[in-house]
Amino acid sequence: MAKKFYITTPIYYVNARPHIGHAYTTIACDTIARRQRLLGADTFFLTGTDEHGQKIERAAQAAGKTPQQYADEISAEFRNLWKRMGISNDDYIRTTEDRHKKRVQELFRKIRDNGFIYKGTYTGQYCVSDELYVDGAQPGDPCPTCGRITETVHEENYFFTLGAFQDKLLELYTNPEFIRPETRRNEVISFVRSGLRDLSISRSTFSWGIPVPDDPKHVIYVWLDALANYITAIGYGSKHAGAQEAFKKYWPADVQMIGKEIVRFHCVYWPAFLMAAGLPMPKAIVAHGWLLFEESKMSKSRGNIVRTETILDVLGADALRYFLLREVVFGQDGSFSFDALVQRYNSDLANGLGNLASRTLTMINRYFKGEVPRPSPELADEVIREIAAKVVIPECDRFFTDYHFSAALESIWIRLIAAVDKYIVTNEPWSLAEKKDEPSQVRLATVLYTAAEALRIATVLAYPVIPDATAKIWTQLGLGDIKQFDLNKLSWGQLPPGTKLGDVHPVFPRADKSAIERMQQMEEQQRTLPPDEKPSSKINLVAEMPAPAVPQTVPPVSATPAVSEKITIDDFAKIELRVGVVKVAERVPKADKLLRLEIDIGTEVRQVLAGIAEAYAPETLVGRKVVIVANLAPRKLRGLESNGMILAASLEDGKPVLASFLEDVPVGARLK
Ligand code: MSP
Repeated sequence: MAKKFYITTPIYYVNARPHIGHAYTTIACDTIARRQRLLGADTFFLTGTDEHGQKIERAAQAAGKTPQQYADEISAEFRNLWKRMGISNDDYIRTTEDRHKKRVQELFRKIRDNGFIYKGTYTGQYCVSDELYVDGAQPGDPCPTCGRITETVHEENYFFTLGAFQDKLLELYTNPEFIRPETRRNEVISFVRSGLRDLSISRSTFSWGIPVPDDPKHVIYVWLDALANYITAIGYGSKHAGAQEAFKKYWPADVQMIGKEIVRFHCVYWPAFLMAAGLPMPKAIVAHGWLLFEESKMSKSRGNIVRTETILDVLGADALRYFLLREVVFGQDGSFSFDALVQRYNSDLANGLGNLASRTLTMINRYFKGEVPRPSPELADEVIREIAAKVVIPECDRFFTDYHFSAALESIWIRLIAAVDKYIVTNEPWSLAEKKDEPSQVRLATVLYTAAEALRIATVLAYPVIPDATAKIWTQLGLGDIKQFDLNKLSWGQLPPGTKLGDVHPVFPRADKSAIERMQQMEEQQRTLPPDEKPSSKINLVAEMPAPAVPQTVPPVSATPAVSEKITIDDFAKIELRVGVVKVAERVPKADKLLRLEIDIGTEVRQVLAGIAEAYAPETLVGRKVVIVANLAPRKLRGLESNGMILAASLEDGKPVLASFLEDVPVGARLK
């Protein structure tokens, strides 16, 4: 019987549209899933969306939609994008689906019946953005994960006896395969060793969630709800025999892939919940690093996202897949740039694999009427054969198994494709073809067979990463459906001489410089368009609620100067004006004029609240230089501390226009 293989992505929050950070995880999982299928495993690949909780409820409210409407729209965006990218997921779970809700309630009941849930009162700080209880924080403290100011929660909750699992968890981590890579494992071990407090697992002050069984005033904590997707999707808690069977077959998961920021939820809470329910542990939780753009984590709140669609439109899905897995060392952070993307595309895909395929196949068409020639055994080209059979095939096996995608691709490209390119240039098949004598013809057949066989091996090894182009090359080689190939049996010499080639077309047309500009322009357009006019979407994410009374945070520097009392130079010198650069900009829930900014003023990063949301979309502000009154006493607005004030002209219609400079000025510079 085929071995089973179950792999999951995190389920993505529906408060933001998909970007290439989300695509990164999904692509990595898709690559692993495709490789497992090629190895004959009965593979189940799950992804989906995380749709409950306060963060989603607030985002929906700000968009003037019901949470369900809002979740439906964004979840569909994720789903359609994965379809467009050819992601091979076997199921797509949404936490608002009935099947999930019922099964989460079953899980809650089970944990409660097993004696690990009790009722109490929670008083403490909560980060809505991370949906995280922040132990030990005081009112006004920032979240240790994202830096946003935490909110105070005081409510009756159900608690989970997390503290009771400390020893069992530490024992679990003695298995070095459970948390990968090692650095994350060490972090988790020291976190758990420092002691675990019981965890609140319900909320009672809002309602967008799954009701606690028998006590519907409470909704289940969104992380318990979300983590459970990994088992509810495959049938946990179902009464149907088929679903129960599927659960028995696929659980425990073989790989649960996540980004490094959600390690604690997956490596501490999740196994503890499973232990409490008496369920087996997943085999491996694998955490990758972040995709950075313009040097910081790509995320909606930083306004530095790159949409996947832009890259798909211009270069196609394979280009993005290859770039991300080749360029970023898995487990570490890696940078994205359009320049690097196009450079990789041209050098490795257009000039590398694409060129090898088209020149080899075109020569077989031309010199052997489109049939793979028979190599001469005496003239067997051992160097290429040895590289493929003894180096690249085993290296790929090892590197892919260890999630070292970039090393596997390096092996295929640098060791094999580059060697075959050199081999073709050295052997000059075009010159051999001109000499019509027998030895030259035999040599020509051997050279082209060797090139075609190496191409076949490179193609099938690269298939999990670039499935679309490799499937085409496979057909051009006359080999049919690449998905049917048994990767366990891959060895040199399987290409049958006499195979009739399919129609030959280039798979990776070269991209010129305009591709970079086109993609940059497309992204620029997205940033500057009002959200509801963005081409990829019909969703309005901008707050359109009645204006609450928001204190004026922009000083009234009038367009027509009013005569006012004179001040002395000493009075003026008391005001510390500095140049800052906006690092983070986001709307403040339920305040349609307010933006929350994080501004770097050279010596520190300040949180400032500014009443400019009606004039500036947050994403247009990130990276912009502003003038800040740096020595203004901090004050609280909407429960958030504002530490400084940014300067703007106030026009007659009340519209603020930010003060800026014509020349470039360094961050931290003082205005006098
Ligand atoms: N909903 C939770 C996860 C619940 S899983 C039971 C969540 N969602 S999220 O939308 O914020 O997605 C987080 C995941 O998206 C990360 O863990 C990572 O897999 C991926 N990424 C989002 N931005 C990313 C980068 N900039 N870089 C790399 N991965 C990124 O957390």
